[in-house]
Amino acid sequence: MTKTEPNMEKIYEENLKFWDDAWNRVSKPHKELPKIPYIHELTRKLKKFRVKKVLDLGCGSGWLSVFMSKYGFDITGIDTSKPAIELANTWAKEDNANITFVTGDLLNLPFEDKSFDAVVCNSVLEHFRFDQAKNIFDKVHKILTDGGFLFGCFDQVGSGKGEYFELDDQTHVYTDQMRKGMMLRNYSDQELKGLLSNFDILSFDKNNYGSRLVWAKKK
Ligand SMILES: C[S@@+](CC[C@H](N)C(=O)[O-])C[C@H]1O[C@@H](n2cnc3c(N)ncnc32)[C@H](O)[C@@H]1O
Repeated sequence: MTKTEPNMEKIYEENLKFWDDAWNRVSKPHKELPKIPYIHELTRKLKKFRVKKVLDLGCGSGWLSVFMSKYGFDITGIDTSKPAIELANTWAKEDNANITFVTGDLLNLPFEDKSFDAVVCNSVLEHFRFDQAKNIFDKVHKILTDGGFLFGCFDQVGSGKGEYFELDDQTHVYTDQMRKGMMLRNYSDQELKGLLSNFDILSFDKNNYGSRLVWAKKK
């Protein structure tokens, strides 16, 4: 019997629809900051590195962007989901935060080369196939200024319950009601380091949940 090739375009479209639907169910920004101890260290380091312009990849409803903007950074946040960006704009307006939020796909980052001093990415990479993640980090490398910084929180995922099918690169595509269409892929330490091969890795730590907290500098 011949194996039917998965329709990657359709799978990806459904994954984007999952995010739109998920954010559409949220009526107002949830302003309580997540209890993530690294965020204070993050702003301290960005200051130490004299960073000014920061891009928040997959910013969702904008908590990290709003948080960082309070420390005086010039922030741009990007997310595929229009409802998420609407929530982020509402939050920024209510908090008098001057942030540029953009609706856009990380696979097609609409920014000039060397336009950010730092890029941050919290719990986003896990939603891409390996080849896509590689493209994103190659582009991130380009849009960073010389010696620019990347900070990522990369979660250990995929061990929980759920119904899904698996792509050749081990990306899970969920089929159950709650997460229908969502793509999720677990990245090993080795894979993460490979994705960042054109960066110098400054630190590679793990928190109590197994998430990898990575600081890297553009080579
Ligand atoms: C797990 S959430 C994390 C959101 C946010 N960074 C946070 O820390 O709360 C993943 C985010 O990635 C966004 N996302 C998923 N695929 C994307 C894509 N292709 N381009 C841009 N954003 C995407 C989703 O809309 C969602 O907001």
